[in-house]
Amino acid sequence: MSNELPDLAALPVFDAPEDGELDNSMRRAFEIAGVVILRGFCSAAECGELQARANELVDSFDPAGVRSVFSTNSQQQLDDNYFIESGDKIRFFLEADAFDKSGQLRQPKRNSLNKMGHAMHDLDPVFDRFSRTPKLAAAVASLGFERPAIIQSMYIFKPPRIGGEVVCHQDSTYIYTEPESCIGFWFALEGATLENGCMQFIPGGHRLPLKARNHRTADGTLVTDVLDEEPWPEERRLPAEAPIGTLVIFDGRAPHMSAANLSEHSRHAYTLHVIDEACHYPSDNWLQRSPDLPLRGFG
Ligand code: FE2
Repeated sequence: MSNELPDLAALPVFDAPEDGELDNSMRRAFEIAGVVILRGFCSAAECGELQARANELVDSFDPAGVRSVFSTNSQQQLDDNYFIESGDKIRFFLEADAFDKSGQLRQPKRNSLNKMGHAMHDLDPVFDRFSRTPKLAAAVASLGFERPAIIQSMYIFKPPRIGGEVVCHQDSTYIYTEPESCIGFWFALEGATLENGCMQFIPGGHRLPLKARNHRTADGTLVTDVLDEEPWPEERRLPAEAPIGTLVIFDGRAPHMSAANLSEHSRHAYTLHVIDEACHYPSDNWLQRSPDLPLRGFG
């Protein structure tokens, strides 16, 4: 199967279109690779404003409240609920190595977090504004959505020294629609390099089958069903290094991973996942929203 993947020396990179709309060569590159890198989509000032707002939200988070959740296996269920209920909230998730043996944070709070999610784009005015610029709306529209809606937002901290590895996966495993419609929009709020754990993609891997599907069971827990046992052709991975302000757009089936951040520099990023509301959204997807907070597009 991997022999059918395109032989690219690097992932496709373009200067971001000024009005946001992907042109034919960008769309073609996205179709071939399953990922396209648009440099300079946002200004450093826009990235700085989002980082500053994230810091304010982090300041309001008390890690003591979730310490037990992460310190014992017996509370796995509680851990799951904190995650499962976060689809329409703003919640904070710590790095696996955040606490030392005595239960104290190894690093300051800001450098202990793995991510914040999953509805900042609908609950926080600064995140809402960043997520719904006319430029991003134009980029999304140029990818052929009928009724685009932002299903989730995540602020990824990838902190220095303890930022964990993310193993190879497809986002449609977690954000599944019928037919599949998920596309990820990943913004570099700080420079991402191989040294601090940038994303890496298998170019053309979005043509491979969906390898797994995560869903809720009747008793409210999450399981991941393996649909395809074939291992990823990881030797074909290419880095998506991204200076500040870069937008990486990737197909929900595009296999990607990121190595641990063992460097001295954080690697903050913001991601949005967009689905087409014209597609069916299963009621057993992990991410469910209260009727009080309906999905919104870019209007
Ligand atoms: Fe992902």
